[in-house]
Amino acid sequence: MSVHRTDFVVIGSGIAGLTFALRAAQHAEVVVITKKERSESNTNYAQGGIAGVLSPEDTFELHIQDTLNAGAGLCREDAVRVLVEEGPGQIRRLIELGARFDMERDAHGNPMLALGREGGHSRHRIVHYADQTGWEIERTLLEATRHHPRITIYEHFFALDLIVHEGQCVGVWVLNTHSDQPEAFLARAVLLATGGCGKVYPHTTNPPIATGDGIAMAFRAGACIANMEFMQFHPTTLYHPAARSFLVSEAVRGEGAVLRLPDGTPFMEKYHPMKDLAPRDVVARAIDAETRRLGIQCVYLDITHRPEQFLRQRFPAIYSRLESVGIDMARAWIPVLPAAHYMCGGVQTDLQGRTSIPRLYAAGEVACTGVHGANRLASNSLLEALVFADRAAMHAVQEGYMQPTVPSAPTPDVLAQSTPSSPNRPEAVRKRLHAVMQGKVGIVRCIASLNEGSRELADIERDAQSAVQAEPRRVEAWEDWNLSIVGRLVVQCALRRRESRGLHTLVDYTERDDANFRRDTVICREHV
Ligand code: FAD
Ligand code: SIN
Repeated sequence: MSVHRTDFVVIGSGIAGLTFALRAAQHAEVVVITKKERSESNTNYAQGGIAGVLSPEDTFELHIQDTLNAGAGLCREDAVRVLVEEGPGQIRRLIELGARFDMERDAHGNPMLALGREGGHSRHRIVHYADQTGWEIERTLLEATRHHPRITIYEHFFALDLIVHEGQCVGVWVLNTHSDQPEAFLARAVLLATGGCGKVYPHTTNPPIATGDGIAMAFRAGACIANMEFMQFHPTTLYHPAARSFLVSEAVRGEGAVLRLPDGTPFMEKYHPMKDLAPRDVVARAIDAETRRLGIQCVYLDITHRPEQFLRQRFPAIYSRLESVGIDMARAWIPVLPAAHYMCGGVQTDLQGRTSIPRLYAAGEVACTGVHGANRLASNSLLEALVFADRAAMHAVQEGYMQPTVPSAPTPDVLAQSTPSSPNRPEAVRKRLHAVMQGKVGIVRCIASLNEGSRELADIERDAQSAVQAEPRRVEAWEDWNLSIVGRLVVQCALRRRESRGLHTLVDYTERDDANFRRDTVICREHV
């Protein structure tokens, strides 16, 4: 088997992985492993934008307060302060690298960044590139890495498991899908930047790569995982048979769109003083409650009071996607329903991106820095990835880790114990997992269903692991196993939080209980 040695290995080529790579490569060699083409990431699909205090009408304190309010008492305040205070510098750095964010003119005719507004924000502070902000960021970062002499990107390399030697993370086992052979990458430190796990639910805004691989790998390696009960459902994804779960950005509500029942009644004023721009958990729950109350399939988003020309310019991608399924958003209401969007929990890290395993860092959606608490404020995740990936890189460089002295890379357990046999039908695991997650671990939960779900998920995970042992070189089998581990972590965390807070709503415990639960839910392998 091939064994590669480098200074830093980064798993993932989204905003977090590339930000880390660019900073670390100022001092050392970096290898980036990515499981598809390099641009394929959640980052590439981000629409609304990136939050930052960049206007004279805004202050750090206001952005901090909005983030804390959304997080429902569970944010780590020092992490939020770091995010907000270091954020604008990171956004400027992206602009220096060539990101072309939308501009407008101030009252004196001077150019300034055009700032949008989204749910839970008390000010206009969302920097954007029309409705394709993530694509522009990914393009910028990839361009900066393209000819970098110290960065090598391996596409279609699937990270299987972390290599932990004497309690420290010294590398990662990877499946080279070109040759179908496992290869080991040994390094002074490893960054997990594998993004989210939306694919644990059947309806999600996330692309197919979002299978929670980093969380599952870290869990198997013994790292602490936190707050997995807080899966954020985005309130407004398209409800249409031809394009289920396509995101209709919150920025559309930021430009004045109103949520309506089928008879035209606006309903958000019943639920929150910020109405349609309330934090996401409130809006998603309101839609869930209204659809259940009326027995309807979806609600509607109405922005028909805005002219077509404005909408085509501000939301070109959304406009044309909707047109492709026969909806002209300038003239017709858009049918919408919530879908799984963002994991607020993940691999627990400190302010330097360190996990509980020495030499293993995590940044971006895979990490739980404490910034989002029980509910992420819109457009804070691209910002979090930038700020904490950069910090992790600086820390890893300054720490001056030595090359690991591993005699030879130990074979991953599952490859060593591989038991070729007739595999389970590949589609069966994902289907069963989705049925449990949708039916028993949705927006509103109850203890009895969570308990049932927990038992079912234990079986599904066992079958998924057997499928990997039967076919250890099949990427989809690993993804299913990883997703089943993620599903079980979501349920385990949900069962431990006997209250309702932020994104976690329990019908058995409807109140927030600060006395007992104002703390993270932390799980390690030994606890489950
Ligand atoms: P990603 O960008 O998802 O990158 C993960 C990388 O890891 C990918 O390259 C993937 O291929 C790779 N990978 C995963 N597993 C493996 C493996 N086993 N082996 C090798 N490689 C692997 N946030 C905002 O702040 N503002 C927005 O406007 C916004 N809009 C969004 C719209 C949509 C449709 C979606 C889905 C998300 C949106 N988000 C937004 C959230 C935000 O995009 C993500 O949280 C963020 O991009 C995550 O970045 P990341 O670098 O952590 O992960
Ligand atoms: C959106 O554009 O609505 C997504 C923003 C986010 O997830 O932060």
